[in-house]
Amino acid sequence: MKSTYLDDNIPSTPGKFKMEKSNYYHRLRWHYPYLAKVTFWSFVFFGLIFVFLFNSSTISTDLSHKSLKIKSWGGPGWEKRVKSSTKIRSETGYSVIVTGAAGFIGSHVSTALKRRGDGVVGLDNFNDYYDPTLKRARQVLLEKRGIFIVEGDINDTVLLNKLFEVVHFTHVMHLAAQAGVRYAMQNPKSYIHSNIAGFVNVLEVCKNANPQPAIVWASSSSVYGLNTKVPFSEKDRTDQPASLYAATKKAGEEIAHTYNHIYGLSLTGLRFFTVYGPWGRPDMAYFFTTSV
Ligand SMILES: NC(=O)c1ccc[n+]([C@@H]2O[C@H](COP(=O)([O-])OP(=O)(O)OC[C@H]3O[C@@H](n4cnc5c(N)ncnc54)[C@H](O)[C@@H]3O)[C@@H](O)[C@H]2O)c1
Ligand SMILES: *[C@@H]1O[C@H](CO)[C@@H](O)[C@H](O)[C@H]1NC(C)=O
Repeated sequence: MKSTYLDDNIPSTPGKFKMEKSNYYHRLRWHYPYLAKVTFWSFVFFGLIFVFLFNSSTISTDLSHKSLKIKSWGGPGWEKRVKSSTKIRSETGYSVIVTGAAGFIGSHVSTALKRRGDGVVGLDNFNDYYDPTLKRARQVLLEKRGIFIVEGDINDTVLLNKLFEVVHFTHVMHLAAQAGVRYAMQNPKSYIHSNIAGFVNVLEVCKNANPQPAIVWASSSSVYGLNTKVPFSEKDRTDQPASLYAATKKAGEEIAHTYNHIYGLSLTGLRFFTVYGPWGRPDMAYFFTTSV
Protein backbone atom coordinates (compact mmCIF):
# COMPACT_ATOMS: atom_id res chain seq x y z
CA MET A 1 0.00 0.00 0.00
CA LYS A 2 2.71 2.44 1.11
CA SER A 3 5.01 1.54 -1.76
CA THR A 4 2.34 2.12 -4.39
CA TYR A 5 1.61 5.40 -2.71
CA LEU A 6 5.27 6.26 -3.04
CA ASP A 7 5.36 5.01 -6.61
CA ASP A 8 2.44 7.24 -7.45
CA ASN A 9 3.81 10.26 -5.73
CA ILE A 10 7.42 10.14 -6.73
CA PRO A 11 7.07 9.84 -10.47
CA SER A 12 9.86 9.69 -12.95
CA THR A 13 10.65 13.39 -12.62
CA PRO A 14 13.10 13.34 -9.66
CA GLY A 15 14.79 10.23 -11.04
CA LYS A 16 15.25 11.76 -14.47
CA PHE A 17 16.39 14.95 -12.91
CA LYS A 18 19.00 13.08 -10.92
CA MET A 19 20.29 11.28 -13.97
CA GLU A 20 20.71 14.43 -15.98
CA LYS A 21 22.31 16.07 -13.01
CA SER A 22 24.70 13.20 -12.41
CA ASN A 23 26.04 13.51 -15.95
CA TYR A 24 26.35 17.16 -15.29
CA TYR A 25 28.01 16.38 -12.00
CA HIS A 26 30.54 14.07 -13.66
CA ARG A 27 31.43 16.69 -16.19
CA LEU A 28 31.74 19.31 -13.50
CA ARG A 29 33.76 17.08 -11.26
CA TRP A 30 36.72 17.25 -13.59
CA HIS A 31 36.52 20.95 -14.30
CA TYR A 32 34.74 22.68 -11.45
CA PRO A 33 35.10 20.68 -8.22
CA TYR A 34 33.67 23.49 -6.09
CA LEU A 35 30.49 23.93 -8.14
CA ALA A 36 30.03 20.18 -8.17
CA LYS A 37 30.18 20.02 -4.40
CA VAL A 38 27.64 22.80 -4.03
CA THR A 39 25.30 21.10 -6.45
CA PHE A 40 25.69 17.79 -4.66
CA TRP A 41 25.03 19.18 -1.17
CA SER A 42 22.09 21.25 -2.30
CA PHE A 43 20.56 18.07 -3.67
CA VAL A 44 21.09 16.34 -0.36
CA PHE A 45 19.58 19.33 1.42
CA PHE A 46 16.46 19.55 -0.75
CA GLY A 47 16.15 15.78 -0.67
CA LEU A 48 16.10 15.84 3.13
CA ILE A 49 13.51 18.60 3.16
CA PHE A 50 11.37 16.58 0.79
CA VAL A 51 11.67 13.42 2.90
CA PHE A 52 10.88 15.40 6.05
CA LEU A 53 7.80 17.04 4.54
CA PHE A 54 6.56 13.74 3.16
CA ASN A 55 7.02 11.90 6.47
CA SER A 56 5.56 14.62 8.63
CA SER A 57 2.43 14.76 6.50
CA THR A 58 1.85 11.00 6.82
CA ILE A 59 2.67 11.05 10.52
CA SER A 60 0.22 13.85 11.22
CA THR A 61 -2.62 12.12 9.36
CA ASP A 62 -1.85 8.88 11.18
CA LEU A 63 -2.03 10.66 14.51
CA SER A 64 -5.34 12.36 13.79
CA HIS A 65 -6.66 8.99 12.62
CA LYS A 66 -5.60 7.39 15.87
CA SER A 67 -6.86 10.08 18.19
CA LEU A 68 -10.23 9.99 16.45
CA LYS A 69 -10.49 6.29 17.13
CA ILE A 70 -9.28 6.33 20.70
CA LYS A 71 -12.20 8.64 21.46
CA SER A 72 -14.97 6.35 20.29
CA TRP A 73 -13.65 2.80 20.84
CA GLY A 74 -10.79 0.66 22.11
CA GLY A 75 -9.07 -0.14 25.38
CA PRO A 76 -9.45 -2.95 27.90
CA GLY A 77 -12.70 -1.57 29.36
CA TRP A 78 -14.22 -1.41 25.90
CA GLU A 79 -13.15 -4.98 25.09
CA LYS A 80 -14.66 -6.19 28.34
CA ARG A 81 -17.99 -4.61 27.44
CA VAL A 82 -17.91 -6.17 23.96
CA LYS A 83 -17.15 -9.60 25.45
CA SER A 84 -19.81 -9.47 28.14
CA SER A 85 -22.40 -8.23 25.64
CA THR A 86 -21.69 -11.18 23.33
CA LYS A 87 -21.82 -13.81 26.06
CA ILE A 88 -24.06 -16.63 24.80
CA ARG A 89 -26.71 -17.71 27.28
CA SER A 90 -28.38 -20.53 25.40
CA GLU A 91 -26.91 -23.89 24.35
CA THR A 92 -27.89 -23.31 20.75
CA GLY A 93 -27.08 -19.60 20.85
CA TYR A 94 -25.10 -17.64 18.32
CA SER A 95 -22.74 -14.73 18.71
CA VAL A 96 -24.05 -11.95 16.53
CA ILE A 97 -22.88 -8.50 15.57
CA VAL A 98 -25.81 -6.30 14.58
CA THR A 99 -24.83 -3.32 12.45
CA GLY A 100 -27.25 -0.41 12.63
CA ALA A 101 -28.28 -1.58 16.11
CA ALA A 102 -29.34 1.92 17.18
CA GLY A 103 -31.68 2.02 14.21
CA PHE A 104 -35.35 1.11 14.09
CA ILE A 105 -35.10 -2.48 12.87
CA GLY A 106 -31.66 -3.07 14.41
CA SER A 107 -32.80 -2.24 17.93
CA HIS A 108 -35.75 -4.66 17.68
CA VAL A 109 -33.63 -7.44 16.15
CA SER A 110 -30.93 -7.02 18.81
CA THR A 111 -33.53 -7.31 21.54
CA ALA A 112 -35.12 -10.41 19.99
CA LEU A 113 -31.76 -12.16 19.57
CA LYS A 114 -30.69 -11.33 23.10
CA ARG A 115 -34.00 -12.57 24.47
CA ARG A 116 -33.57 -15.96 22.81
CA GLY A 117 -30.12 -16.39 24.36
CA ASP A 118 -27.72 -15.18 21.66
CA GLY A 119 -24.72 -13.01 22.43
CA VAL A 120 -25.27 -9.65 20.78
CA VAL A 121 -23.14 -6.59 20.23
CA GLY A 122 -24.28 -3.63 18.15
CA LEU A 123 -22.40 -1.28 15.86
CA ASP A 124 -23.73 2.12 14.88
CA ASN A 125 -22.30 5.51 13.95
CA PHE A 126 -25.30 7.44 15.32
CA ASN A 127 -25.39 9.67 12.26
CA ASP A 128 -27.85 12.55 12.10
CA TYR A 129 -29.84 11.49 9.03
CA TYR A 130 -32.76 11.67 11.45
CA ASP A 131 -32.71 12.96 15.01
CA PRO A 132 -29.95 11.03 16.81
CA THR A 133 -31.66 11.50 20.17
CA LEU A 134 -34.05 8.74 19.05
CA LYS A 135 -31.04 6.49 18.38
CA ARG A 136 -29.60 7.37 21.79
CA ALA A 137 -32.92 6.51 23.42
CA ARG A 138 -32.89 3.10 21.72
CA GLN A 139 -29.28 2.67 22.91
CA VAL A 140 -30.36 3.27 26.52
CA LEU A 141 -33.11 0.69 26.08
CA LEU A 142 -30.67 -1.89 24.69
CA GLU A 143 -28.16 -1.18 27.44
CA LYS A 144 -30.82 -2.09 30.00
CA ARG A 145 -31.12 -5.42 28.20
CA GLY A 146 -27.39 -6.03 28.36
CA ILE A 147 -26.61 -5.06 24.77
CA PHE A 148 -23.63 -2.83 24.15
CA ILE A 149 -23.60 -0.72 21.00
CA VAL A 150 -20.10 0.04 19.72
CA GLU A 151 -19.93 3.54 18.33
CA GLY A 152 -18.21 3.41 14.96
CA ASP A 153 -18.53 3.21 11.21
CA ILE A 154 -19.00 0.06 9.14
CA ASN A 155 -16.44 1.44 6.68
CA ASP A 156 -13.77 1.37 9.41
CA THR A 157 -11.66 -1.72 8.65
CA VAL A 158 -9.48 -1.39 11.74
CA LEU A 159 -12.50 -1.32 14.03
CA LEU A 160 -14.19 -4.30 12.37
CA ASN A 161 -11.00 -6.34 12.46
CA LYS A 162 -10.65 -5.52 16.13
CA LEU A 163 -14.21 -6.63 16.86
CA PHE A 164 -13.66 -9.91 15.03
CA GLU A 165 -10.44 -10.39 16.95
CA VAL A 166 -12.19 -9.93 20.29
CA VAL A 167 -15.21 -12.09 19.40
CA HIS A 168 -15.53 -14.99 16.96
CA PHE A 169 -18.91 -14.02 15.58
CA THR A 170 -20.97 -16.84 14.11
CA HIS A 171 -23.40 -14.39 12.49
CA VAL A 172 -23.57 -10.86 11.17
CA MET A 173 -26.92 -9.09 11.03
CA HIS A 174 -26.12 -6.24 8.69
CA LEU A 175 -28.75 -3.52 8.93
CA ALA A 176 -26.63 -0.35 8.90
CA ALA A 177 -27.35 1.64 5.77
CA GLN A 178 -28.23 5.03 4.46
CA ALA A 179 -31.99 4.67 4.14
CA GLY A 180 -34.53 7.02 2.58
CA VAL A 181 -35.24 7.82 -1.03
CA ARG A 182 -35.55 11.63 -1.05
CA TYR A 183 -32.39 12.30 0.98
CA ALA A 184 -30.25 11.07 -1.93
CA MET A 185 -30.78 14.39 -3.69
CA GLN A 186 -29.27 16.18 -0.70
CA ASN A 187 -26.49 13.78 0.22
CA PRO A 188 -25.79 11.20 -2.50
CA LYS A 189 -22.36 10.32 -1.13
CA SER A 190 -23.76 8.99 2.14
CA TYR A 191 -25.43 6.18 0.15
CA ILE A 192 -22.14 5.22 -1.48
CA HIS A 193 -20.31 5.47 1.85
CA SER A 194 -22.62 3.17 3.82
CA ASN A 195 -24.45 0.99 1.29
CA ILE A 196 -21.52 0.27 -0.99
CA ALA A 197 -18.11 1.05 0.59
CA GLY A 198 -19.32 0.13 4.08
CA PHE A 199 -20.99 -3.06 2.90
CA VAL A 200 -17.88 -4.16 0.99
CA ASN A 201 -15.83 -3.47 4.11
CA VAL A 202 -18.12 -5.71 6.17
CA LEU A 203 -17.86 -8.45 3.54
CA GLU A 204 -14.07 -8.16 3.34
CA VAL A 205 -13.69 -8.56 7.09
CA CYS A 206 -16.14 -11.52 7.12
CA LYS A 207 -14.31 -13.12 4.22
CA ASN A 208 -11.03 -12.98 6.15
CA ALA A 209 -12.52 -14.17 9.45
CA ASN A 210 -11.91 -17.73 10.54
CA PRO A 211 -14.45 -19.26 10.80
CA GLN A 212 -16.44 -17.17 8.34
CA PRO A 213 -19.68 -15.90 9.85
CA ALA A 214 -23.02 -16.22 8.08
CA ILE A 215 -24.41 -12.87 7.01
CA VAL A 216 -28.01 -11.75 6.88
CA TRP A 217 -28.47 -8.28 5.48
CA ALA A 218 -31.19 -5.81 4.54
CA SER A 219 -31.78 -5.13 0.91
CA SER A 220 -35.01 -3.41 0.01
CA SER A 221 -38.21 -3.78 -1.96
CA SER A 222 -37.08 -0.62 -3.75
CA VAL A 223 -34.96 -2.85 -6.02
CA TYR A 224 -38.21 -3.65 -7.86
CA GLY A 225 -38.05 -0.06 -9.04
CA LEU A 226 -40.27 0.83 -11.97
CA ASN A 227 -41.49 -2.75 -12.11
CA THR A 228 -45.28 -2.65 -11.48
CA LYS A 229 -46.11 -6.35 -11.55
CA VAL A 230 -47.95 -7.49 -8.42
CA PRO A 231 -47.66 -9.56 -6.37
CA PHE A 232 -43.88 -9.19 -6.24
CA SER A 233 -41.62 -12.18 -6.70
CA GLU A 234 -37.88 -12.69 -6.12
CA LYS A 235 -37.73 -13.64 -9.78
CA ASP A 236 -39.04 -10.26 -10.96
CA ARG A 237 -36.65 -7.97 -12.79
CA THR A 238 -34.71 -5.55 -10.59
CA ASP A 239 -32.70 -3.66 -13.17
CA GLN A 240 -34.76 -0.48 -13.26
CA PRO A 241 -34.05 1.29 -9.95
CA ALA A 242 -35.94 4.54 -9.46
CA SER A 243 -33.65 6.11 -6.85
CA LEU A 244 -30.03 6.18 -5.82
CA TYR A 245 -31.06 4.35 -2.66
CA ALA A 246 -32.54 1.54 -4.75
CA ALA A 247 -29.50 1.49 -7.01
CA THR A 248 -27.12 1.06 -4.05
CA LYS A 249 -29.28 -1.74 -2.61
CA LYS A 250 -29.32 -3.45 -5.99
CA ALA A 251 -25.54 -3.03 -6.21
CA GLY A 252 -25.37 -4.61 -2.75
CA GLU A 253 -27.24 -7.65 -4.04
CA GLU A 254 -24.79 -8.08 -6.90
CA ILE A 255 -21.81 -7.56 -4.60
CA ALA A 256 -23.24 -10.13 -2.18
CA HIS A 257 -23.59 -12.60 -5.03
CA THR A 258 -19.94 -12.06 -5.94
CA TYR A 259 -18.70 -12.69 -2.39
CA ASN A 260 -20.73 -15.86 -2.21
CA HIS A 261 -19.46 -17.01 -5.58
CA ILE A 262 -15.78 -16.28 -5.03
CA TYR A 263 -15.29 -16.82 -1.30
CA GLY A 264 -18.25 -19.01 -0.41
CA LEU A 265 -19.55 -16.49 2.12
CA SER A 266 -23.01 -17.40 3.36
CA LEU A 267 -25.24 -14.44 2.50
CA THR A 268 -28.97 -13.95 2.82
CA GLY A 269 -30.51 -10.70 1.62
CA LEU A 270 -33.94 -9.58 2.79
CA ARG A 271 -36.00 -7.25 0.63
CA PHE A 272 -37.96 -5.42 3.31
CA PHE A 273 -41.10 -3.64 2.30
CA THR A 274 -42.26 -0.72 4.45
CA VAL A 275 -41.48 -1.80 7.99
CA TYR A 276 -43.27 0.09 10.75
CA GLY A 277 -43.93 -0.18 14.45
CA PRO A 278 -42.92 1.27 17.82
CA TRP A 279 -39.67 3.26 17.86
CA GLY A 280 -40.05 3.72 14.08
CA ARG A 281 -38.25 6.12 11.81
CA PRO A 282 -39.45 9.72 11.83
CA ASP A 283 -38.44 10.16 8.17
CA MET A 284 -40.95 7.61 6.92
CA ALA A 285 -44.24 8.57 5.29
CA TYR A 286 -46.52 6.96 7.88
CA PHE A 287 -45.18 9.42 10.42
CA PHE A 288 -46.50 12.48 8.65
CA THR A 289 -49.34 11.07 6.56
CA THR A 290 -52.68 10.78 8.36
CA SER A 291 -54.41 8.44 5.89
CA VAL A 292 -52.36 5.63 4.43
N1 LIG B 1 -37.69 0.52 7.55
C1 LIG B 1 -38.04 0.08 6.35
O1 LIG B 1 -39.21 0.15 5.96
C2 LIG B 1 -37.02 -0.52 5.43
C3 LIG B 1 -37.42 -0.95 4.16
C4 LIG B 1 -36.49 -1.53 3.31
C5 LIG B 1 -35.19 -1.71 3.73
N2 LIG B 1 -34.79 -1.27 4.94
C6 LIG B 1 -33.39 -1.46 5.32
O2 LIG B 1 -33.34 -2.04 6.60
C7 LIG B 1 -32.18 -1.58 7.30
C8 LIG B 1 -32.58 -0.97 8.63
O3 LIG B 1 -33.49 0.09 8.38
P1 LIG B 1 -34.12 0.98 9.52
O4 LIG B 1 -35.49 1.35 9.09
O5 LIG B 1 -33.94 0.36 10.84
O6 LIG B 1 -33.21 2.30 9.36
P2 LIG B 1 -32.48 3.19 10.46
O7 LIG B 1 -31.98 4.38 9.73
O8 LIG B 1 -33.37 3.42 11.62
O9 LIG B 1 -31.27 2.28 10.91
C9 LIG B 1 -30.03 2.25 10.27
C10 LIG B 1 -28.97 2.48 11.34
O10 LIG B 1 -27.70 2.33 10.72
C11 LIG B 1 -26.83 3.32 11.19
N3 LIG B 1 -25.81 3.57 10.16
C12 LIG B 1 -26.00 4.13 8.94
N4 LIG B 1 -24.84 4.20 8.27
C13 LIG B 1 -23.90 3.67 9.10
C14 LIG B 1 -22.50 3.49 8.97
N5 LIG B 1 -21.84 3.87 7.87
N6 LIG B 1 -21.83 2.92 9.99
C15 LIG B 1 -22.50 2.55 11.12
N7 LIG B 1 -23.81 2.72 11.30
C16 LIG B 1 -24.50 3.27 10.29
C17 LIG B 1 -27.71 4.53 11.44
O11 LIG B 1 -27.15 5.40 12.41
C18 LIG B 1 -29.00 3.89 11.92
O12 LIG B 1 -29.05 3.83 13.32
C19 LIG B 1 -31.51 -0.61 6.35
O13 LIG B 1 -30.51 -1.29 5.64
C20 LIG B 1 -32.61 -0.18 5.43
O14 LIG B 1 -32.10 0.24 4.17
C21 LIG B 1 -35.68 -0.68 5.80
C1 LIG C 1 -14.04 3.85 3.20
O1 LIG C 1 -12.83 3.67 3.91
C2 LIG C 1 -11.66 3.71 3.11
C3 LIG C 1 -10.48 3.45 4.00
O2 LIG C 1 -10.57 2.18 4.59
C4 LIG C 1 -11.52 5.05 2.45
O3 LIG C 1 -10.40 5.05 1.61
C5 LIG C 1 -12.78 5.34 1.63
O4 LIG C 1 -12.70 6.64 1.13
C6 LIG C 1 -14.02 5.17 2.46
N1 LIG C 1 -15.13 5.23 1.53
C7 LIG C 1 -16.13 6.07 1.65
C8 LIG C 1 -17.06 6.14 0.49
O5 LIG C 1 -16.31 6.74 2.64
